[in-house]
Amino acid sequence: MTRRLGGRAIDALVLNAGTQSRNLDGRTADGFETTFGVNHLAHYLLAPQLADKARLILTTSDTHDPAITPLAPKSLDPQALAHPPKAGLGAGMRAYAASKLCNLRTARSLADIPELDTRGITVLGYNPGFTGGTNLGDASPGARRVMSAVVFPVFSVIGRFKPAYAMGRPERAGQVLAELATKTITPPAGRTYVSLVKGEVTYPDPSELALNNSVRDGLWEQSATMVGLAQT
Ligand SMILES: NC(=O)c1ccc[n+]([C@@H]2O[C@H](COP(=O)([O-])OP(=O)(O)OC[C@H]3O[C@@H](n4cnc5c(N)ncnc54)[C@H](OP(=O)(O)O)[C@@H]3O)[C@@H](O)[C@H]2O)c1
Repeated sequence: MTRRLGGRAIDALVLNAGTQSRNLDGRTADGFETTFGVNHLAHYLLAPQLADKARLILTTSDTHDPAITPLAPKSLDPQALAHPPKAGLGAGMRAYAASKLCNLRTARSLADIPELDTRGITVLGYNPGFTGGTNLGDASPGARRVMSAVVFPVFSVIGRFKPAYAMGRPERAGQVLAELATKTITPPAGRTYVSLVKGEVTYPDPSELALNNSVRDGLWEQSATMVGLAQT
């Protein structure tokens, strides 16, 4: 599963693109539910020729973790995410949180490839934390007004008691992402999950599901089939 971008080895690759919608109506050109297709499958497919000692970073989210949000996935069924049988209240947010679990699972699968380890390639899942002022979700003027007038003030209060809900700035989230990519920040050995909490870089354990190897392998294999990379 090797992709070359532009013919030269890459020192750092940041897989940061992400989308979030209110419902599950969108489909990619290949027919996958859009959140799953953009946030997970597209990143899964992008495994280019990395240089020795390169950094590969997938932007995930602490919304993958049931300990942080009740909408986080309690199980992972890639087929159901790719082709959701039904929508419902909070379906868009659930699909988003599940796609972010997929990012972490993919990071861990890549980190466990012996060749990448031998070549000193570091694979990380990065959670920028709840970040205001980006275009994620509904970026319409009406939604932005609601966010500014209601959601941001509410979360600034909740964030005093629950650090993961404290709203951060995009400048700080981007700065840490850049510092991870350029090796200004080096996580402790064995830590693949980097989480920004109240502007501080932390290295917590991800959710139990993110650490579960059978879930990881199922996602890896089913994703390979979906994007046409499975060995026959
Ligand atoms: N904001 C938060 O609270 C938060 C919290 C945790 C994690 N994250 C993660 O942080 C990352 C960046 O999100 P953000 O908050 O900065 O949101 P954003 O402002 O909406 O940025 C999303 C980025 O993804 C790109 N993108 C979306 N759909 C795409 C597609 N189909 N093909 C190619 N590129 C696409 C967008 O490109 P265009 O600008 O060209 O559309 C944009 O550069 C995402 O992975 C998100 O899940 C965000």
